[in-house]
Amino acid sequence: MDHFLYRDGVLHAEDVPVTEIAAAVGTPFYCYSTATLERHFRLFDDALEGMDHLVCYAMKAASNQAILRTLAALGAGMDVVSGGEYARAKAAGVPGERIVFSGVGKTEEEIAAALSGGIRQFNVESEPEMAAISAVASRLGREAPITIRVNPDVDAKTHAKIATGKSENKFGIPISRARDVYALAASLPGLKVVGIDVHIGSQLTQLAPFEAAYRKVAELTETLRADGHDIKRLDLGGGLGIPYERSNTAPPLPVEYGAMVKRELGHLGCEIEIEPGRLIAGNAGIMVSKVIYVKSGEDREFLIVDGAMNDLIRPAMYEAHHDIVPVVEAAPGQVPATYDIVGPVCESGDTFAKGRDIAKLEADDLIAFRSAGAYGAVMASEYNTRPLIPEVLVNGDQFAVIRRRPSYEEMINRDSIPEWLEG
Ligand code: LLP
Repeated sequence: MDHFLYRDGVLHAEDVPVTEIAAAVGTPFYCYSTATLERHFRLFDDALEGMDHLVCYAMKAASNQAILRTLAALGAGMDVVSGGEYARAKAAGVPGERIVFSGVGKTEEEIAAALSGGIRQFNVESEPEMAAISAVASRLGREAPITIRVNPDVDAKTHAKIATGKSENKFGIPISRARDVYALAASLPGLKVVGIDVHIGSQLTQLAPFEAAYRKVAELTETLRADGHDIKRLDLGGGLGIPYERSNTAPPLPVEYGAMVKRELGHLGCEIEIEPGRLIAGNAGIMVSKVIYVKSGEDREFLIVDGAMNDLIRPAMYEAHHDIVPVVEAAPGQVPATYDIVGPVCESGDTFAKGRDIAKLEADDLIAFRSAGAYGAVMASEYNTRPLIPEVLVNGDQFAVIRRRPSYEEMINRDSIPEWLEG
């Protein structure tokens, strides 16, 4: 459930008409709902009630400072995957003991920054990375808390580009080698093994793959404990999917996921961490865009809108579906029209939807891309020298621009001219 609903025929973000935000900010823009972000965080937090747990929001999904602060105020931890994300989490006031550091390619600089600023744990993805963490920690005279990310070789049954738990993927160490790698960890200076980490992919729409992976983790916990390791924490990753198409059957709910976690892992007495990103931010955000032209092709009508693949790349990159709705509902009885909905970027891939039924629209009409809160703004680029679009946060009847649109001048002035071209 989200808080983007029609009232009197106009799409509202909580209590604010989307038309009002568009008039104030211009299009295109991203718009997030505080109530939805909070609701989704609480769904996970409540689902794990009764277990010692921390919900570490995977901030790669949407990392605006205002979003991070909203979640941090509820007690969220953060899952970060770069020095930049670590700095963002700290800037939003998240204490180091609530930040976990994931990712296959942590550099020595990133490791040092996290160790100095405070970190709950590094999720280690390979032996060379473990050696690097050991070396940096020893140099700084610190002890680095680590889990090792195991790759359970489970098919997540999701889009190939976002599946991570099969042996062919670059993530984690094969679970079959886990005992050796934990033994290595115990022998290296500057490391403190605290648990096990697993993440098998994103936009999972069934519980079975999680269940299969967590069973393997439960077994591994017992084995590693028998080997003498202090496994007290299990990081279960993120990945629970969201309903992108309202017409489709919905993926399992956080409460069902939580019940499964308790069933599979509850007996181990471990502290549980989860790293949801999409489920917290996805349906808490929309992208609002304006129709520039309606163009008649040979055999189809194109809706050319001012948002493009550089603003929301998911359809171009993963053939992802986003529901697209008119901001002002069609008058009752009006026949819908069918369009290819495209952006202005000079690539055929700049297509959001083909043959999509939507209300009949005209130039200057507003449309909203639903479920755009996760992996939307964060994956945007300035391709075609299109400015990164603004982000707006709504809270009840208030809204605020949380990232403004840069001017062309600002964009151009980031370039610098070498001496030999001056003159
Ligand atoms: N933890 C780790 C280690 C991850 O790699 C990810 C996502 C998450 C947590 C959060 O997963 P979530 O709960 O959001 O599914 N850009 C793609 C999604 C990439 C996901 C990458 N890793 C998309 O737009 O669908």
